[in-house]
Amino acid sequence: MTVKKIRALILAAGQGKRMKSDFPKVLHSLKGRSLVDYVIDAVQSAGVDEISMVVGHKKECFKEFTQKGITLVEQKKLLGSGHAVMQAEKDCQQAGHILVLCGDVPLIQAKTLKKLVKKHLAAEASATVLTGILDDPKNYGRVVKDNKNSVIAIVEEKDATPSQRKIREINSGIYCFKSKDLFSALKKIKQENKQNEYYLTAVIQILSKEQKKVEAVLVEEIVEIQGINNRKDLTLLETILNQKIVEQLMAEGITIIDPKTTFINSRVKIGKDTTIMPFTVIEEDVKIGKRCKIGPFSHLRKGTVLDDEVEIGNFVEVKKSWIKTKTKAKHLSYIGDSILGKKVNIGAGTITANYDGKNKHQTIVGDEAFIGSDTKLIAPVKVGKKAITGAGSVVTKDISPGSVVVGVPARKIR
Ligand code: UD1
Ligand code: CA
Repeated sequence: MTVKKIRALILAAGQGKRMKSDFPKVLHSLKGRSLVDYVIDAVQSAGVDEISMVVGHKKECFKEFTQKGITLVEQKKLLGSGHAVMQAEKDCQQAGHILVLCGDVPLIQAKTLKKLVKKHLAAEASATVLTGILDDPKNYGRVVKDNKNSVIAIVEEKDATPSQRKIREINSGIYCFKSKDLFSALKKIKQENKQNEYYLTAVIQILSKEQKKVEAVLVEEIVEIQGINNRKDLTLLETILNQKIVEQLMAEGITIIDPKTTFINSRVKIGKDTTIMPFTVIEEDVKIGKRCKIGPFSHLRKGTVLDDEVEIGNFVEVKKSWIKTKTKAKHLSYIGDSILGKKVNIGAGTITANYDGKNKHQTIVGDEAFIGSDTKLIAPVKVGKKAITGAGSVVTKDISPGSVVVGVPARKIR
């Protein structure tokens, strides 16, 4: 696909007033990743690797994106989406076509972007708008077409006539433009609307009046173009995304007793015949083997790897740890920065004290060790194979294989 002559421009300068937040809207987190991260991923997976991003409100929060090769363009005054695109003219005029996206429309998929670009190029259009049909189009710009079904304008809800408000085809905020036509049309837009903004959407009517070709591509899955403007939208997408992830896992052979109370991030891998009980949270980059039992009320955090047949139960939190086959931690534990061997038994209330106030330290437990209830493992510490700790032990020193320790601090008794 000839996507090389295309540059992506992500609009992310808006304050997101409706979020009522001190942080820029597009940096709010959806399943552990920022909204704009999803957009960047989709653009890159579609094969477009030249990306500019318009930032304004709290622009200092976006610095890290330059390390990902993204060019930041500043919009000093937030005068609307059209004004935002104008700021990127110098940056983008070299590219033949510009793929414009909104940082607050996170679930857009690469395959849809490819389809949009393909149609835009094939039709040799000046502008191609990604649209969707909504039962409740409230708050979105409406796509106005003539009797030949050509797009002639996009009208914002606030500016729409009552009959335009009845239109259910909405603007996703994602478009492909011939850059020459885009920037010349932008010079003609005015702030004459209810919000006194330079709307990007105003270029559609200008292009159409100039007899330039404006195309529309209808998105198949409406969730892809769901925008996030307030906390309610954010929670709705969180729920929808969770549902999709859980359904995918069930299709892959994992039992999930109650999807509504099971929260699993994307980029989680789970093996066949594992069962996830209710009220469980699994964060990103967690890998779980086959035939494991997780939950109820378990929290598996980033960087956790569970081998096959591991059991993690009630009120157990595991962070950045590797737990090997057939090991069980079934009640009230914190396992952090640890490697637990095979067939280890972690008694109720066991805690790895991994943090000394400055640094994190590692706990290593050998195969078949038996950690008594309420043991505290003060890291860095190693427990040998088949070693035993008595209930309530506070382990401050390494324990040799096969030995038995008890007490505070733990002493060897066998
Ligand atoms: C916009 C579209 C609307 C579409 C909807 C899709 C306009 C005028 N309207 O409305 O037709 O249905 O998206 O979700 O474009 N931004 C800036 N600088 C600004 C203003 C906005 O960078 O000065 C950015 C925002 O960060 C955001 C995007 O542009 O990512 C859209 O702005 P927003 O205010 O959310 O527009 P909507 O009202 O959602
Ligand atoms: Ca929006």
